[in-house]
Amino acid sequence: MGPLVVNSHGELSSCSGPALHTFGRMADDCFAHPRLAAIYDPLDPDRSDLDAYLQMAEELEAQRVLDIGCGTGAFALLLADREIEVVGVDPARASIDVARAKPGSERVRWICGDATDLPPLQVDLATMTANVAQAIADPQAWQKTLRGAHEALRPGGHLVFETRDPARRAWEEWTRENSYRVTEIPNVGSVESWVQLIEVSWPLTGLTIHQAKNSCGP
Ligand SMILES: C[S@@+](CC[C@H](N)C(=O)[O-])C[C@H]1O[C@@H](n2cnc3c(N)ncnc32)[C@H](O)[C@@H]1O
Repeated sequence: MGPLVVNSHGELSSCSGPALHTFGRMADDCFAHPRLAAIYDPLDPDRSDLDAYLQMAEELEAQRVLDIGCGTGAFALLLADREIEVVGVDPARASIDVARAKPGSERVRWICGDATDLPPLQVDLATMTANVAQAIADPQAWQKTLRGAHEALRPGGHLVFETRDPARRAWEEWTRENSYRVTEIPNVGSVESWVQLIEVSWPLTGLTIHQAKNSCGP
């Protein structure tokens, strides 16, 4: 199998160039294609970013949590390990499939979809870990997501998500030179990955960040 390419419209094809992943699209191929979903965890093994969410779940004494944009299930499974009832929802079926294949996944209720079309829930806490909020760039989709999260929460429940501080201009450090690495992934082979900034469009809500991956199968 050759490299996979996701272009800036979120469309997938195979060719000899690098794969481009654009944040800001629904069910991006980066999360929705089985070969790309399978390498999400190995390419980003340090999940210390989830510590703050775990701490908040503890402080809020959450017993029921909805993880919106659960991806490959990293946070949902951490919660399930702590006997917390979890629903993980994500529009990318391939990512949900990766989550379902992990040990302990039977303790989580997985839903392929988004927060706008959930069954009735009364959770104590809703979360969007990592770049989920940044992935929902369309203002109407964001409004609907917030409404869906609100409906899923019990009265007095909490929603926790991340924002980025544009004043820090972090994208200036997102160069191939700073980010290039090769990761050996069992059953996959060597995967080259780097971040490549294609465009910064103003206003900042339109900021577009592209990640390039060149995934070579065995
Ligand atoms: C950077 S990944 C983060 C995955 C996971 N939360 C984690 O911490 O590993 C962003 C996730 O947001 C999901 N996503 C994109 N649009 C979404 C939407 N409208 N509602 C819910 N999730 C969405 C993607 O499918 C992807 O799994």
